[in-house]
Amino acid sequence: MVMTTVSLIKADVGSIPGHVTVAKPLLTIAEKKMAEAQKAGIINSSYVFNAGDDLELLMTHSKGENSPEIHKLAWDTFMACAEKAKKLKLYGAGQDLLSDAFSGNVKGMGPGVAEMEFKERGSDPVIVYAADKTEPAAFNYLLYKIFADPGNTSGLVIDPRMTCGFSFDVLDGKENKSVVLRSPEELYSLLALIGATETYMIKKVTRSDDGEIAAASSTTKLNYIAGKYVGKDDPVCLVRAQSGLPSVGEITSPFLHPYLVAGWMRGSHWGPFMPVGLKNSKCTLFDGPPRIIGLGVQVSDGVLAADDDGKPMVVDLFDDPAFDLARREAMEMASFMRMHGVFQPARLGPGAMEYTTLPQCLASLEGRFKEEK
Ligand code: F6R
Ligand code: MG
Ligand code: MG
Repeated sequence: MVMTTVSLIKADVGSIPGHVTVAKPLLTIAEKKMAEAQKAGIINSSYVFNAGDDLELLMTHSKGENSPEIHKLAWDTFMACAEKAKKLKLYGAGQDLLSDAFSGNVKGMGPGVAEMEFKERGSDPVIVYAADKTEPAAFNYLLYKIFADPGNTSGLVIDPRMTCGFSFDVLDGKENKSVVLRSPEELYSLLALIGATETYMIKKVTRSDDGEIAAASSTTKLNYIAGKYVGKDDPVCLVRAQSGLPSVGEITSPFLHPYLVAGWMRGSHWGPFMPVGLKNSKCTLFDGPPRIIGLGVQVSDGVLAADDDGKPMVVDLFDDPAFDLARREAMEMASFMRMHGVFQPARLGPGAMEYTTLPQCLASLEGRFKEEK
């Protein structure tokens, strides 16, 4: 059986100005590296883009998930970009590359990874999500809406190929263990976990009756790897669409209205998740608001379907007036949250703050506390 793998691997390797966006020369280096790898037969096709200050490598190949060759390619590409970022004195050059030497898999080394291997159907649409100034659990609500909420996805009720429901592979990011739960049978238990976004994040979604892979997202938590706050785990996610899976429109509809996610400014605030086109893939206001890019591609005989010049055809889904309402609502929510300044609930709760630089600020007060009588 011929299988195709789609790998989406990302890292913040330096940005301009501050943590706003990725500089053009870095994108150019990444594109060159990808073209060389395609020529060398390592990958079949690729598309390079950015989500705010994160550089994203979308690749198709036949080497399966967690391929050392593909991960090394991503690592070497990020290293080359970081090198350029250092030369240009861009901000946070090499920030997400937490090790000096590659050891077989970029997971646990800083970059975020979403990968899925599948046997291509007659036609295989794939939606690519990439976010900035937030964390992997930001996709919990999104994936719940797409794969478990019939109010969002009519296909769960109307398409007989989907009425079996979907299974969610959920990671406990603190204990590093995971559990698979089926919807609708175990929906309330599923929600009990994935509603607690500080701890649980969805790794994979499969169709329950045949195990067909439907979605995969990155689950890297940089602070758990480095043991301290070193930047954010801006996540990526791949979702397959149509023909017995949610339609493209059901995959984008959760963004009719924005919802709040953790990770705005210093990884310490809640902010609205704002869907934007690539032209607005830059985090400008209070380093945000958290943004999400949505791209649509067709995976076709192992490659991203390309135009006559061989360029992959990528549809920028949120570059569309259909999401103007969400953007307006997002800015209203942003304004409301910012009125709270550094007070909760605009600021994240104490659990999340433990992983930031706040404890260092508070350390000096330690000796000044007196026991209350
Ligand atoms: C980075 C981010 C930013 C930074 C903030 C402070 O992705 O979320 O909000 O945390 O700009 O950055 P430093 O500490 O590098 O000055
Ligand atoms: Mg940055
Ligand atoms: Mg980022």
